[in-house]
Amino acid sequence: MKAAGEVTRVGVVGAGTMGNGIAHVFALAGMDVALVDVDADALERARATIQKNLDRQVSRERIAASDAEGALARLGTGTDLDALSDADVVVEAATENPGLKFELFRSIADVASPDALLATNTSSISITEIAAHADWPERVIGMHFMNPVPVMKLVEVIRGLETSDEATRLTLDLCERLGKTPVAANDFPGFVSNRILMPMINEAVVCLMEGVAEADAIDAVMKLGMNHPMGPLALADLIGLDTCLAIMEVLHRDLGDSKYRPCPLLRKYVSAGRVGRKSGRGFYDYSES
Ligand code: CAA
Repeated sequence: MKAAGEVTRVGVVGAGTMGNGIAHVFALAGMDVALVDVDADALERARATIQKNLDRQVSRERIAASDAEGALARLGTGTDLDALSDADVVVEAATENPGLKFELFRSIADVASPDALLATNTSSISITEIAAHADWPERVIGMHFMNPVPVMKLVEVIRGLETSDEATRLTLDLCERLGKTPVAANDFPGFVSNRILMPMINEAVVCLMEGVAEADAIDAVMKLGMNHPMGPLALADLIGLDTCLAIMEVLHRDLGDSKYRPCPLLRKYVSAGRVGRKSGRGFYDYSES
């Protein structure tokens, strides 16, 4: 396994909201990125999103125009996992579906170099269980980025039962190289971030369902009263209601406590395909933007 300063090639699997943000920050930090997804259209959308977010950073004078151009030039996209074969680090950011991630890790472990670090951006699935599906569980680790990835400082770093000290050191150092702040957590359902965040979001949906207040009033209370940068319902729309539901289901099943029961209204919105910003509608309407 290379040291963080020697990492030159990174593979990112999954070109959704998190995958494109992760590809963005690695490319901006000077590494070549292979972004892989089964869906060629998703890859095109990801490239356009990355370009838009880089341009925004340039226009806010956070980065130079040449940095943005360099990052885009270092970004390759493709639909074949073979593009990961020469990566020093692979970060998996596919849909939050355990079966899919287990299968992907088997395939990634097959194509990736035996020296590569295999990280997953899962927000709630057990790192130990994902690692058990790869040939080298000691190289598997949780690298949990926050949305929007280019802005948020935190990366939650989660060790599975078999994760080696070397893999942990490399992950912590890589986060620093990306300009992020890594925080270590152990492998329990939801880790720290979603063990605390998701029950709050779920409870906000319960408040909406029970008519305690309208959506914008619930969000205003948390923004103005608790100084949160955005209200829990707007945040759920940003994260994706399908992701929120998937995480609540993991907490409910794996901790076995009814306090984690997903709100029926959350289920209803997801069933209707109203999953937040990415579908144009969640608790709020984004069709204009
Ligand atoms: N890419 C690049 N830059 C972006 C961006 C993006 N996608 N989105 C926003 N920005 C930048 C803006 O350019 C701006 O930069 P400057 O400070 O340099 O001017 C800055 O972020 C603030 O953006 P805005 O002024 O447009 O808007 P804002 O002040 O309302 O902030 C926000 C937007 C950063 C999203 C803020 O509302 C916020 O922090 N919200 C909470 C986000 C949060 O809690 N994320 C964690 C979700 S949980 C998760 O991700 C993990 C999980 O497992 C579910």
